[in-house]
Amino acid sequence: MRLPGGPAAALLPLCLLCLQAALPLRAHRGGYAGDKVIRVVPENEKQTQILRAAFNRLKVDLWQPSSPFYITEGTVTDVRVPQNTSRSLLPYLQQANIQYTILISDLQKAIENQTASRSHRNRRSLSEYNYEVYHSLEEIQDWMHHLNETHSDLVHMFSVGKSYEGRPLFVLKIGKRSRPYKKAVWMDCGIHAREWIGPAFCQWFVKEALQTYQTDPVMRKMLTQLYFYVMPVFNVDGYHFSWTHDRFWRKTRSKNTRFRCHGVDANRNWKVKWCDEGASFHPCDDTYCGPFPESEPEVKAVAHFLRKHRKQIKAYLSFHAYAQMLLYPYSYKYATIPNFSCVELAAYNAVNALQSAYGVRYRYGPASSTLYVSSGSSMDWAYKNGIPYAFAFELRDTGHFGFLLPEMLIKPTCTETMLAVKNITLHLLKKCH
Ligand SMILES: *[C@@H]1O[C@H](CO)[C@@H](O)[C@H](O)[C@H]1NC(C)=O
Ligand SMILES: *[C@@H]1O[C@H](CO)[C@@H](O)[C@H](O)[C@H]1NC(C)=O
Ligand SMILES: *[C@@H]1O[C@H](CO)[C@@H](O)[C@H](O)[C@H]1NC(C)=O
Ligand SMILES: *[C@@H]1O[C@H](CO)[C@@H](O)[C@H](O)[C@H]1NC(C)=O
Ligand SMILES: [Zn+2]
Repeated sequence: MRLPGGPAAALLPLCLLCLQAALPLRAHRGGYAGDKVIRVVPENEKQTQILRAAFNRLKVDLWQPSSPFYITEGTVTDVRVPQNTSRSLLPYLQQANIQYTILISDLQKAIENQTASRSHRNRRSLSEYNYEVYHSLEEIQDWMHHLNETHSDLVHMFSVGKSYEGRPLFVLKIGKRSRPYKKAVWMDCGIHAREWIGPAFCQWFVKEALQTYQTDPVMRKMLTQLYFYVMPVFNVDGYHFSWTHDRFWRKTRSKNTRFRCHGVDANRNWKVKWCDEGASFHPCDDTYCGPFPESEPEVKAVAHFLRKHRKQIKAYLSFHAYAQMLLYPYSYKYATIPNFSCVELAAYNAVNALQSAYGVRYRYGPASSTLYVSSGSSMDWAYKNGIPYAFAFELRDTGHFGFLLPEMLIKPTCTETMLAVKNITLHLLKKCH
């Protein structure tokens, strides 16, 4: 990562070195009492420098954007501040005349608020599955096995490989076996562990497909003319870890030989401008690109599958959170893709369809100019490998709950996102140009 680095820090009038990072960096179960999530929006270059330097030094957990590197004038910046750190950081910001707002005042309470409503979750009943709660990895895998057995006409479950910790990487192939060759759509959720609404959406999509196939002509058409490869949890190890140890874990769980830090950003590890702008070489950073491209077994397995089926797969859809955006290539550079108008039209229609449900607005555009520049992303890789429609969704919300999106909001979020996915799919079945 190219950071403005050292010299800037020396120019700061404030005592940057007085800021103390709270150790250990990552809290464990029940360890978020008093942690806050604050929002700052730097108003000028000086504030930008101060924030970048402070966040680099403190190694705080950035919720958006995903690295201090991305903070520029006007960037809405949400950051999780551990209790010990907030005692020095908040006065420091005040001294520097940087306004901040508190999004979440006690993270532990916010987490407990979310788990409290979970008494009705009917863990075990697969016949009356509850799609309006978040599910653990084990629950999701049981559910997949169940569908594979009970819906064998439309569902086929298989594994594309094994994770770093040895878990199978399951994918559901959904669609009517109506003809020998059909185009396909790939969907993955949960590349980043803490973005729990992603896996919830993948499950919702499968539910809708199976429940409305008989009655909804659009769904029937989709499942007759296409296959859907749905991978509900891409980063299985990280997702599991986010349930058992650290709710805000983002990366994979691979071990590094030279550092204590675990994990690689599975959305910076793809072989497309690997570890260039917007990715970090440092194993302790949340945007660490890994020791080499496809170093992560999860990335390697999916890349292998997509490469093998690149002729068949016409759309790649990846589900993240949070920001409320629909993004398409390029991520790694400011440039428009050759088929820009077709892809842009698909995105424009999709966000309108999404908005028609509850009025929620999504921004859309090339990832580089709409979100930020990042290299080594799965979406760019899919596009570069011949999949013409490559999209990344950043689902709800825009920071009020952030990664702790309440379960109450699973249904509206998934309902509106379904409309967007259906719209993109129909676009695919029509000729563009
Ligand atoms: C608790 O959760 C409910 C919805 O589940 C939400 O409306 C409320 O704002 C939450 N409170 C806190 C403190 O997060
Ligand atoms: C899904 O079911 C089929 C048989 O219907 C079986 O061959 C296959 O192994 C099952 N998949 C998994 C991952 O268990
Ligand atoms: C543009 O899209 C069409 C079909 O939608 C496809 O055949 C063509 O290869 C694409 N061209 C590029 C440069 O991606
Ligand atoms: C897709 O979006 C376009 C434009 O908003 C709309 O005309 C069309 O009906 C939508 N299709 C579906 C299936 O939602
Ligand atoms: Zn993400």
